[in-house]
Amino acid sequence: MTDIKMKPSAEKRSIPLFIDCDTGVDDAMALLCAAKMKSFDLIGVAAVAGNVALDKTLPNTLNVLALAGRTDVPVYKGAYKPLVRPLVSAPHVHGLNGLGGVELDSSPRKEEPEPAWDALYNAAMEHEDLVLVAVGPLTNVAKAFIKYRELPKRLSKIVIMGGAAVGGNTTPCTEFNIVTDPEAADVVFNSGVPIVMCGLDVTLKAYLTGTELDELAKLGTPQAIFSYQSQQNALRYEMSKGLPGICLHDPAALFFAEDETMFTARKAGIRVETRGSITSGKTVTDLDSDKKMSYREHRVVLDINRDAFRERIFTLMRKYSET
Ligand code: BDR
Ligand code: CA
Repeated sequence: MTDIKMKPSAEKRSIPLFIDCDTGVDDAMALLCAAKMKSFDLIGVAAVAGNVALDKTLPNTLNVLALAGRTDVPVYKGAYKPLVRPLVSAPHVHGLNGLGGVELDSSPRKEEPEPAWDALYNAAMEHEDLVLVAVGPLTNVAKAFIKYRELPKRLSKIVIMGGAAVGGNTTPCTEFNIVTDPEAADVVFNSGVPIVMCGLDVTLKAYLTGTELDELAKLGTPQAIFSYQSQQNALRYEMSKGLPGICLHDPAALFFAEDETMFTARKAGIRVETRGSITSGKTVTDLDSDKKMSYREHRVVLDINRDAFRERIFTLMRKYSET
């Protein structure tokens, strides 16, 4: 009998991923998760000023990646301030060092000489299916889009954590990442390509309760213990605002980029208010209006299957006990 040669089953290729972040406590969780995702190949991470100043978000990014065992990932230095405004940060949520007061070992790796905006462009030129997940103020991304006009079209997917169709966490109608640099957000939403806005509409539902965070700590790995300890201040802050737990805003955006089936999203027009005396930094959508905007290819993420979200966090964090 002749041997029938079976073709080796085609291995699913990882998609190149670039993360832009202002490493505070939920950015750190997103990095720890991204570092263990098989579906993505984390090819670069850029730091921007936001939750705390750049002289903290940059080492935080390097050190969290080292904690994740991913010193192979290049880290790029981004903007130290928003495009036109002074930086207003959030140490009351993320702690003075941005990591809830937890001091991590210094990474042996240093940042690359290339600035964040050049790195993003070069990555997009090299990888035609590059996915961008931006979970801080959009300053670096806007600088890249301004410098390289063809860049937005080169990105296969852009998911941001930022904004809200309804409500706000910094003023009554604004979300932190957008209100910190509205001019940058305006550039990004006006770049002519679809943006996924994974904002407070969904991320306030992407939380772990205090008990679930305790469960996470019981995994006992340095990464799980860091996640538990670094989030305690933010957990207290968010519960004092009436939230049911700690919102993992930035992991939610990352998970949307990985697998949309956990989420509900709707197409919409989205514009950023940059001038209003009480609405500057608001993301205005046409979702519930009969007056539609001319560009309606953006998407607003509105809902999440929280059980699936929590399971994904635990599945990825359990991978640290497997190595
Ligand atoms: C967003 O702002 C930051 O404080 C968090 O890291 C998150 O990206 C939530 O509004
Ligand atoms: Ca962030």
